[in-house]
Amino acid sequence: MKHHIPDHVIEDVRLRADLVQVVSEHVQLKKSGKDYKGLCPFHPEKTPSFTVSAEKQFYHCFGCGAGGNVIKFLMDLEDLSFIEAIRKLADRVGVTLPSVSPSPHEREVQTEREMLYKLNTLAMEYFVRLLQNPEGGQAARAYLGKREFDTAVAERFQIGYASASLRDLTAYLEKTARCSRAQLEKAGLAKKREHPQEYVDRFRNRIMFPLKDARGKIVGFAGRALGEEIPKYLNSPETLLYKKSQHLFGLDLAREAIRKEDSVLLVEGHFDLVRLFQHGIANAVATCGTALTALQIGLIRNYTRNVVLVFDSDAAGQAASRKGYDLLLEQEMNVKILTLPQGHDPDSFLQDEKTEKFMEQVRNAPPFIESYIKETLKQENIASPDGRIRVVNRVLPMLGGIKNHLERTEWIKFLAEQTGVDAGTLLAETKKNLISAGKTKNVALPPPRAADRVDPAVYLIHLMLAHTEAARRIREQVTLDDFSDPLARTVAGTLFRLVDEGFPVEIGRAVDRIENEEARKLLTQIGFQLIEFENPIKAAQDCIRQIRREGAENKIRELKTQRNKAMEEGLAERSRELQKQLQMLEHSLAVI
Ligand code: CTP
Ligand code: MN
Repeated sequence: MKHHIPDHVIEDVRLRADLVQVVSEHVQLKKSGKDYKGLCPFHPEKTPSFTVSAEKQFYHCFGCGAGGNVIKFLMDLEDLSFIEAIRKLADRVGVTLPSVSPSPHEREVQTEREMLYKLNTLAMEYFVRLLQNPEGGQAARAYLGKREFDTAVAERFQIGYASASLRDLTAYLEKTARCSRAQLEKAGLAKKREHPQEYVDRFRNRIMFPLKDARGKIVGFAGRALGEEIPKYLNSPETLLYKKSQHLFGLDLAREAIRKEDSVLLVEGHFDLVRLFQHGIANAVATCGTALTALQIGLIRNYTRNVVLVFDSDAAGQAASRKGYDLLLEQEMNVKILTLPQGHDPDSFLQDEKTEKFMEQVRNAPPFIESYIKETLKQENIASPDGRIRVVNRVLPMLGGIKNHLERTEWIKFLAEQTGVDAGTLLAETKKNLISAGKTKNVALPPPRAADRVDPAVYLIHLMLAHTEAARRIREQVTLDDFSDPLARTVAGTLFRLVDEGFPVEIGRAVDRIENEEARKLLTQIGFQLIEFENPIKAAQDCIRQIRREGAENKIRELKTQRNKAMEEGLAERSRELQKQLQMLEHSLAVI
């Protein structure tokens, strides 16, 4: 994160702002032992699992895993950037932030962005006025009327109309905003023609949708032709503000509902989304014809993990969602799919059917993977070995993408039942693929309550948090490679840095240095389950020894496999070499 505020000022703000007080403004907290508990503001729940440590100034929700310090809390709750959260807190606790002076280049870009926002806003207002104009907007209003969109929803989305004339908007903006034509081109509102050389409006005779970012600022436009003109939809080009792959239509209006419902419906088209809103369904966004991207999923992930894909039943929709699915799995989202009857999109479906019927389909939407397996089965003949192999080959790679071990195993069993192929074989096959793709990951850690049940790497993290001297020793004697779990490694890396920089190893200080959300969750979870150590230094030594031992044992196992393989293949030289390494390791193991 790039910002200009020195670390010690941020520390100062964080230490002065009381987390309990800040949280209390949004959540009703009750004292429970040393800590406070309340209903989590980040996911719907009936019994409080959101826990705040007043003493250590961090929080963790045992329901959804959300965790952080006072800065993170404000960022997530009010959707602020890191800097915005700091500003807000600084104001509140009376810390004056040093005035930051951006570089000339930064200032230039900032001015340009502001100009583009301004042009977009003026253009939107212009389009909206034209739509409402008794004469000028008649055809466009008739179009919307024919498609049964009401005025209220059009106003909510600030839908407008761009006239058919060549230079209406350009002329208007030049006059009102006193901008150059080149700026209008940069905003994507005008384009330069070659013959004759002149600037003309980019959008003509179209229904205009303003495209907004999550905060409701207009970044671009999409224009729908009134008739059969091509293209049917014309979008803003990529500009300083509009990046197609990072945009989700409707997110500004939908985000509250998405958070509240803890799920999002993902539709394809602009009008699909507007239709849903007209029917009171507000936890939805549209991808607008692009294949879903990782950045878009990242946007959604700020609000929920649960996605229902609502796509056309046509082949393109299916293919788009299959690709999107892999990306969704990558970010550990739960994905369901609603397939509408042939020939329908959400817009047309809701025009024909009752809202309740649609909602029922949403509630009954099967997991994407289930529907994919069933579709594949329909396309292949599983009575033949050949057909079964094809099904397995098509489905298994996808199952390999499921990061949660339990979930993956369940779907493998399901595939086995459906195809009649032996589940053990499928499991072994998936494992093989996972290992070769380097995808094995240990996400579900056991809740660390009793020392003997804790993964040694996690145990080290407990120790580092419990005792500064133990943390220093661990830092000296253990390397990050000793942490086999990637999340534990990330957390340990951050704690190591605190040690290196001479800071006390505190959760409140560590959390906003961790960008990976899962790792942050692991840290705040550990924070509320700290183990009491009688002799932390000794415990650290024991644990370090155990980790080394396990590391050596793993290596020995690996070497043995390699040696046996070399022997089988008759590679005498190689097997002798491996044997030598083995003996050395076994010796060193004896002295660990
Ligand atoms: N789209 C686009 N550019 C195009 C065609 C489509 O950006 N040239 C996007 C639009 O967001 C559109 C979506 O892809 O809504 C799906 O396209 P399509 O199924 O062809 O249109 P519909 O959504 O049915 O549009 P409409 O209801 O307005 O006919
Ligand atoms: Mn449509």
